[in-house]
Amino acid sequence: MKKHLIVTGSSSGIGSALKELYLSEGWKVTGIDKVVSKDEPRKGLAEIELDLTNNQDIVKLERMISSEDIPRADALVLNAGISCAGPFIDSNIEEQLEVIDLNLTSTMALSSLALRSSLLKSGGTIAFVSSMSRFLSYPGASVYAATKDGVTSWANSVRNSFKESGITVLTIFPGPTRTPHAERYSPKNSKSHNRMEPETLASMIKISIEKKRSFLIPGIGNKLVSVIGVWLPPLGEQLMKKLVFQPLKKQQQAETAISYTES
Ligand SMILES: NC(=O)c1ccc[n+]([C@@H]2O[C@H](COP(=O)([O-])OP(=O)(O)OC[C@H]3O[C@@H](n4cnc5c(N)ncnc54)[C@H](OP(=O)(O)O)[C@@H]3O)[C@@H](O)[C@H]2O)c1
Repeated sequence: MKKHLIVTGSSSGIGSALKELYLSEGWKVTGIDKVVSKDEPRKGLAEIELDLTNNQDIVKLERMISSEDIPRADALVLNAGISCAGPFIDSNIEEQLEVIDLNLTSTMALSSLALRSSLLKSGGTIAFVSSMSRFLSYPGASVYAATKDGVTSWANSVRNSFKESGITVLTIFPGPTRTPHAERYSPKNSKSHNRMEPETLASMIKISIEKKRSFLIPGIGNKLVSVIGVWLPPLGEQLMKKLVFQPLKKQQQAETAISYTES
C-alpha cells in the first residue's frame, strides 16, 4: 500500500515543495489549503480547500477524519502559516489575531484531532513548522514570533502523548526560505538569493521524517545563527534589529509619506 502524507499550506512555498517531492517518490499526498488548484486531478494527490482559521472548517475536517474520507497517514506536516510585519505599535489587531488563529490555534487543534482520531499510523511522524525566530528576538514580527514559540512549546509538550501511540514529533525551524511568505513579510530590499530553496528544505524535512528525528534546523548558517541566539542573545537581537526591524520601519515610513503626498 502507498505511503500517505498530509500537509497543510500545500498550495505554495514549503508545503507545495513537500507535496511535489512526496508525489515524485510515489506517495499518496493529501494537501490542505485555503485555495487549492482547480486543474485536472493528479494521480496520487487529493486536495481539500479549507480555511484553517475558520472553526467550521476545522469541524468539517474532523468529520472527514472520523468518516475516513481522509485515509490514515504516515506523516502529517502542520505547515500553513502567515505573519504580519512592521513596527508592533502600528500593527492591526485583526491581522494579529488571524496570525494567532492560523499559526497556533489551528496547529494545536489539528494535532489534537490527529492524536484522538488515530489519523496517524503507529510508526508515523507529526511535524510542526516553527521558525528560527524561536532562537532570536523578532522585532518587526512579534506576534508571529510568539506563535512560533507557542508551536515549539506545544510540540515539546505533546511529544510524550504521541510517543505512546508510536508517533514521532518533529519540530522544524526554517530560516529564510525563498517563498511568497518570505517575499511578503521581509524588507523589500532583502537579498532573496540568500534564502534557502523550498525544495532543499523539503528534502531535509523528508530525511528528518525518515530518520525519526525530533528537531531540524536546516543548514549550517541557520545552525550557527541558532547558537548565537541561544548563547549571545543581545547579538541575535542586534542582528534582527539591523537586518529586519530598521529596514521594515524605514519602508513603512516611506509608504506612509507617499500615501500622504497622494491624498
Ligand atoms: N519562508 C520562510 O522564510 C519561513 C521561515 C520560517 C518559517 N516559515 C514557516 O513555514 C511555513 C510555510 O511558509 P511558506 O514560506 O511556505 O509560506 P507560503 O508560501 O505563504 O505558503 C503558506 C500557504 O498556507 C496557506 N494559508 C494561508 N492562510 C491559510 C488558512 N487560513 N488556511 C489554510 N491555508 C492557509 C497560504 O495560502 P495563501 O497563499 O492563499 O495565503 C499558502 O498556500 C509557515 O508556517 C511559515 O511561518 C517560513
